[in-house]
Amino acid sequence: MKALILGSGGREHAIFYKIQQELGENNVLITPGNGGTAKYSIKSDLNDFTQIKNIVIENNIDVIICGPEQPLANGIGDFFNNDDSLNKKIFIGPTQRAAKLESSKTFAKDFMQQYQIPTASFANFNKTQFDEAKRFLEKLTTPYVIKASGLAAGKGVVITENINEAIETITDFFYKNTLGDAGNEIVIEEFIDGIEMSIFIATNGKDYVLLPEAKDYKKIGEGDSGPNTGGMGSVSPTNLLNDDLKNNIINKIIEPTLFGLQNMNIPFNGFIFFGLMIKNNEPYLLEYNVRLGDPETQVVVPRLESSLIELCIAINNGSLKNYKIKTNESYHCCITLASKGYPNNYEKNKIIKIENEKINSLIFHGGTQIDSNNNLVTSGGRVLYVVGYGDSLRAAQSMAYDDINKIHFDGIYYRKDIGDDILKMKI
Ligand SMILES: Nc1ncnc2c1ncn2[C@@H]1O[C@H](COP(=O)(O)OP(=O)(O)O)[C@@H](O)[C@H]1O
Ligand SMILES: [Mg+2]
Repeated sequence: MKALILGSGGREHAIFYKIQQELGENNVLITPGNGGTAKYSIKSDLNDFTQIKNIVIENNIDVIICGPEQPLANGIGDFFNNDDSLNKKIFIGPTQRAAKLESSKTFAKDFMQQYQIPTASFANFNKTQFDEAKRFLEKLTTPYVIKASGLAAGKGVVITENINEAIETITDFFYKNTLGDAGNEIVIEEFIDGIEMSIFIATNGKDYVLLPEAKDYKKIGEGDSGPNTGGMGSVSPTNLLNDDLKNNIINKIIEPTLFGLQNMNIPFNGFIFFGLMIKNNEPYLLEYNVRLGDPETQVVVPRLESSLIELCIAINNGSLKNYKIKTNESYHCCITLASKGYPNNYEKNKIIKIENEKINSLIFHGGTQIDSNNNLVTSGGRVLYVVGYGDSLRAAQSMAYDDINKIHFDGIYYRKDIGDDILKMKI
């Protein structure tokens, strides 16, 4: 059996690492990959589906796992389902229509409302409804939450106490096209003051398997300050998931979502991420992602004792109903090492030195590449992910932070407080 992972970030490196252990070194390829997977990487443009098809056929690939959302929103799932020469291949990732749960926040919010899934109260507006949007804002209490509907790589949500800034955000999205078409529609919603949690399922649209939960850290600065990023760290398990909460998440969020998909005849083969806010032990759904999260995957996948590739096959062949996964209870703590300047303009092409022989953590690559002198260099905002593990969160955190001292590149930036909020909570 041969697998191909689509993507180039830390999430894809973590999936690649796990499946390589399962299928053997030479049976897993990645496209386009990064500096950490260079030996097994094939250059490509993930939005050129014919190119991906050729890679699949030339390399006799059996299972394709799509990491990022953009190709899914562009219809790569439909392409693989509809092409006769690919019909024996297992493609893990939903169709374009199902991907709307992520690629259109207005669609997702309407869906949540229709299926009575608890979420922040809201209203949707399009470009012709600026005045209505403004009037709606004026009736709300602060902080204001304004979301561009389309895919915006983490830049589409503005939360502000200031009404003028809120109105300016709407003007930017609608009329200055700061996010392109992604800002043509917006959601304005109630602010929920709670604790965030990420829940993942593997599903065939009907049956599902719950994966370990995680918490991610989206803000650039310590104490959750500053602008949003792709993710500065993550932790799993979180100590936040008691039995009551878990049952509520299953009964109020996961199962109504699958009911809704079936009710609307939307098939779904892949992973769903539920971005939750927990308030008074009650879950509210902030958003769906139609794929695994980054950097949550970097702490969730190492907790899977059972096979990830077998889980993918079970998604595809109808055997998910009684499928049991095995997980370990070991704590995992992931710290993102970023380039100076991130999440704004950042530096690139800095040589990376990793003292591999002294490192205990798992190291997953994101924005790295091998340059023409065969050096490992930085090539993105989020460069490396250091995943420590141990019997306690503190042990996992210490392992990761110790190992960061053995990794060097100019301008290295990381948060020093990943996991601290959980350690301080009395649960
Ligand atoms: N209604 C809300 N109340 C409080 N915080 C929110 C709300 N909606 C979003 N957020 C915060 O903004 C972040 C981004 O919002 P989200 O809906 O996940 O959009 P995206 O991940 O597409 O940027 C969330 O992770 C959360 O921290
Ligand atoms: Mg989110």
